[in-house]
Amino acid sequence: MARSEPLRIGVLASGRGSNLQAIIDAIEAGKLDCRLAVVVSDRADAQALERARKHGTEAVFMDPKAHPTREAFDQTLLGVLAEQRVELVCLAGYMRVLSPTFVRALPGLIMNIHPALLPAFPGLHAQRQALQYGVKVSGATVHFVNEGVDTGPIICQAAVPVREDDTEETLAARIIEQEHQLYPRAIRLYAEGRLEVRGLRVYVNET
Ligand code: GRF
Repeated sequence: MARSEPLRIGVLASGRGSNLQAIIDAIEAGKLDCRLAVVVSDRADAQALERARKHGTEAVFMDPKAHPTREAFDQTLLGVLAEQRVELVCLAGYMRVLSPTFVRALPGLIMNIHPALLPAFPGLHAQRQALQYGVKVSGATVHFVNEGVDTGPIICQAAVPVREDDTEETLAARIIEQEHQLYPRAIRLYAEGRLEVRGLRVYVNET
């Protein structure tokens, strides 16, 4: 179903923002028909905020110390996203765990990208976990966010072979290349109304 206006997305990011950049590049290249409405970071020095400003997007730093609780922070965040009429929230290296209130307020409307083939290696340092476990293949996953950590319905994944001489850095570098392809693709499928979630399974309507 065609939309009359491009989907308005909001990105939450805590750091470098290379996934955010991949989304911006896809939008600027006309490959992703979305509007980047706002970028919010919990870190004032996040490179992601710079990248947003360069694209002409509102960049908001929200200071965790200015909020007494996670709930209070997330309530303010919900307000910022609503003000910018955000329709889909994309987590891209966002280091805060979302409160249940936040997740419940936006059911099926939050995506995340994770540098492993979930459900393997959730949480922090996914590439280190993969090397320590000795898997031969790792990769990247884009999924909808539910109340668990990295447990929501999987939208798409890309596999990356692990080499014997890999370090955390070399593996991360090959995985992030895949992430940069995967995230814009997942958002595009959503924007085109092609994703249908049934339980934990996401069906991609190709027609
Ligand atoms: C990526 O590896 C992403 O999968 C993980 O955090 C990292 C963020 O990198 N959630 P960047 O800030 O997008 O460059």
